[in-house]
Amino acid sequence: MAMRDESNLGIYRRWAPFYDAVVGSLYSRGRHRAIEALDLRPGETVFVPGIGTGLDIPAIPAGVAITGLDLSPDMLGKARERAAARDDVTLVHGDAQSVPLPDASFDAVLCDLVLSVVPDARTTFAEAWRVLRPGGRLAIFDKFVPEGGRVSGLRRVVGRIAEAVGTDPNRRLPDIIGGVPGLVVLSDEPDLLGGQYRVVLMKKSSHPADEPREETG
Ligand SMILES: C[S@@+](CC[C@H](N)C(=O)[O-])C[C@H]1O[C@@H](n2cnc3c(N)ncnc32)[C@H](O)[C@@H]1O
Repeated sequence: MAMRDESNLGIYRRWAPFYDAVVGSLYSRGRHRAIEALDLRPGETVFVPGIGTGLDIPAIPAGVAITGLDLSPDMLGKARERAAARDDVTLVHGDAQSVPLPDASFDAVLCDLVLSVVPDARTTFAEAWRVLRPGGRLAIFDKFVPEGGRVSGLRRVVGRIAEAVGTDPNRRLPDIIGGVPGLVVLSDEPDLLGGQYRVVLMKKSSHPADEPREETG
């Protein structure tokens, strides 16, 4: 089985009423770390693909204009309730693999728990990168196979079970971001489950011809 948009729609329709209660506190630290890493300032704009029920919204500083997008009308419905508390949130129903927004239109992008869910994480990342302006920052909070780690038989079985509830724990970040011109990794920190979950901050070079590189450590 692989992640598919059709099955994700059903899975996240069923998740929507319980999502916040089940994962809200579990992932709170990681999402706050990713948002802090972006160092958002009033007057800036941030794009949040796969915004879900909008758990990121209250953690994003006031004065930062948020555009969230999600495939699931049910998850987005919950995000709308949460967004009602502020006047700088735009919510879009759509596919993160084909974002209906112009190039270079955001100062920052926040990818929390979405690259492990969409069928095509590489295209989703490319779309997030496309709408980020040169010089902008992109943060990821998600789970990936640790660098250099192998996917054991047991891990594969666990992965199949996780896919059935709407997430794939066996993706590798380099397969998703590898080779993107102008991408500079600024930090890559372990989070939950001994580093299975990570908080990664990158910036888009103002010189897009730059080779991908790391500035961590
Ligand atoms: C695990 S939830 C994460 C939600 C939110 N980012 C958070 O941190 O709580 C994954 C979200 O991705 C959404 N999603 C799945 N496939 C998508 C797609 N192709 N385009 C946009 N959103 C998608 C789901 O509907 C769900 O809301």
